[in-house]
Amino acid sequence: MIKIPEHIAIIMDGNGRWAKAKGKVRTEGHYQGVKNVRDTAIYANELGVKCLTLYAFSTENWKRPEDEINYIMSLPKVFFASYLKELMEKNIRIRMMGEIERIPENARRIFLDAIEKTKNNTGMTLNFALNYGSRREIVLAARKYAEDVKNGRINDIDENGFAEYLMTDSLPEIELLIRTSGEKRLSNFLLYQLAYSEMVFSEVYWPDFDYKEFDRCIDEFNHRKRRYGGLDES
Ligand code: FPP
Repeated sequence: MIKIPEHIAIIMDGNGRWAKAKGKVRTEGHYQGVKNVRDTAIYANELGVKCLTLYAFSTENWKRPEDEINYIMSLPKVFFASYLKELMEKNIRIRMMGEIERIPENARRIFLDAIEKTKNNTGMTLNFALNYGSRREIVLAARKYAEDVKNGRINDIDENGFAEYLMTDSLPEIELLIRTSGEKRLSNFLLYQLAYSEMVFSEVYWPDFDYKEFDRCIDEFNHRKRRYGGLDES
């Protein structure tokens, strides 16, 4: 029987190259990328995935040209205006992680509204990483931890305790990371959380990542032997 990972994280890469290959502008790649967020989320929910975390905008993405940043920040509006109703019907819950204070007011408000409207949904959690960077996340967690020790709120901490300070708090362990477009690096994504995750690298650009390629990634995950540093039992 195929095991469906409880929590899948995806680095959605290759929108720009997808557009270039088709002689289109980069923003067209992002637009198609948004449509594919919808398709992938609906499919993951059907498969029974509990949580899908998508890397939508990193702390490093602020280095991009202003026009492109503005365009990406307009995408939450496009996404939720088009698909929030459907996500509600599918019982999908929206969540967001990252330093949201720096996200433009409009995009932030739209996200917070979607989070509020879907908060009682019990299906898959669709978690967007927006203005997210893992090193920053770990530093913020360490800072909060130090404050809690200083204030006497805690006096001991272990790996599980520390994980509660991270932005993925209360989400299931990430079992599978997928990165599209053939690049093979983590790009400051979930460095702590991916310690024992399986990683699958797909050659296709994000806008072309369809349910068949998703199935192939899950199939590859199912062929991995997960030993968590122990010995093979067979
Ligand atoms: C990487 O491709 C993609 C991004 C930095 C943006 C991804 C964002 C989305 C797909 C939309 C997010 C949706 C919502 C609702 C916020 P790239 O531009 O780095 O591609 P390239 O490496 O080929 O240039």
